[in-house]
Amino acid sequence: MGDSKSFAPWLLTGMGGVLGVGAAAHPPQAIHIVAGQVRPSAWPVTPAVRVNLGRRGALAHIVAELRPSVVVHAACISRAADCELQPERALSINVEAVEELLESAASAASFVLYVSTEQVFDGTAAVYFEHSPVSPQTVYGTTKATAEQMVLAAGGAVVRLPLLLGPRVNERRVGADRAVVDAVRAGQRLRLFRDEIRTPVHVDFIAPMLWKLARLRVPGVFHLAGAESVSRFELGQRACLAAGIEPLLDSSLAAQFDGPPRSLKLVLDCQRAQKELGWEPPDLRQSLARTFAAPAFRAGVCSD
Ligand SMILES: NC(=O)c1ccc[n+]([C@@H]2O[C@H](COP(=O)([O-])OP(=O)(O)OC[C@H]3O[C@@H](n4cnc5c(N)ncnc54)[C@H](OP(=O)(O)O)[C@@H]3O)[C@@H](O)[C@H]2O)c1
Repeated sequence: MGDSKSFAPWLLTGMGGVLGVGAAAHPPQAIHIVAGQVRPSAWPVTPAVRVNLGRRGALAHIVAELRPSVVVHAACISRAADCELQPERALSINVEAVEELLESAASAASFVLYVSTEQVFDGTAAVYFEHSPVSPQTVYGTTKATAEQMVLAAGGAVVRLPLLLGPRVNERRVGADRAVVDAVRAGQRLRLFRDEIRTPVHVDFIAPMLWKLARLRVPGVFHLAGAESVSRFELGQRACLAAGIEPLLDSSLAAQFDGPPRSLKLVLDCQRAQKELGWEPPDLRQSLARTFAAPAFRAGVCSD
């Protein structure tokens, strides 16, 4: 790779998920290498290395070998329910692997950009700023908040994202809008919370900002969220309409949910990203159009 920083690769983890699909649509200009348990299908020609974050030393070994100039770390157990069921595994992959990454990144002089979530907040404030104290409610949120603190202490960047919209990657990984539409089309009658407010955004809009921040290597916290605050129920209705199907949905209240606590209102203030990265928060119509006007979705509808 030579010894010039500009020729050092970027290491990208977690690119087999919903976010990775959007990231692959706008690949970074630097040499990049994806790491995951399997090769992400959205990155067919990109060099890939296999890593299981649950295996101690595996990620550190890759960082030591590649000496990437930047590590964009998005891999984690991102399903809150999975984290509640397996808290030790969540701790291992969402926290301990980040600790290991930071140690090896310090030795390799790699800048770490950590992808995080609005779920580090409890949902009781009207809006959350980059400097707002974290207040996670769940195992997932707690692991992500813990990892954030470690990354910030090491001089890295943290990008908090809202509920992500986007296509279906596989059976378990799917954008929140597409998940509703697929269920309705399959004849399911979903109940969606009318009191749980989010600022969703399509993954396509996130990737260019991630790459920009990775190029700039600016430390600290950034928020990248959509312009509109909507309830889960309203999101479902508007997703169905954008997909051209009748919104046959029921609504309910989060308090009626028989599961881990839920953060009711998560609105991320994005002013820092707007000023420093040129982030223009897309409205919901723009995000939904990315999912449902996409040729892949249209082709799927026509072939039914
Ligand atoms: N989806 C959302 O609504 C949302 C909202 C806010 C923030 N985020 C954040 O965005 C990031 C990406 O989320 P996502 O929804 O795209 O995730 P996802 O669809 O659940 O995908 C998870 C990714 O992590 C990798 N991964 C999981 N366990 C691993 C392990 N043991 N070893 C190596 N890789 C492992 C997976 O790789 P393999 O496929 O190879 O297993 C996959 O690429 C996460 O940091 C998440 O916290 C997501």
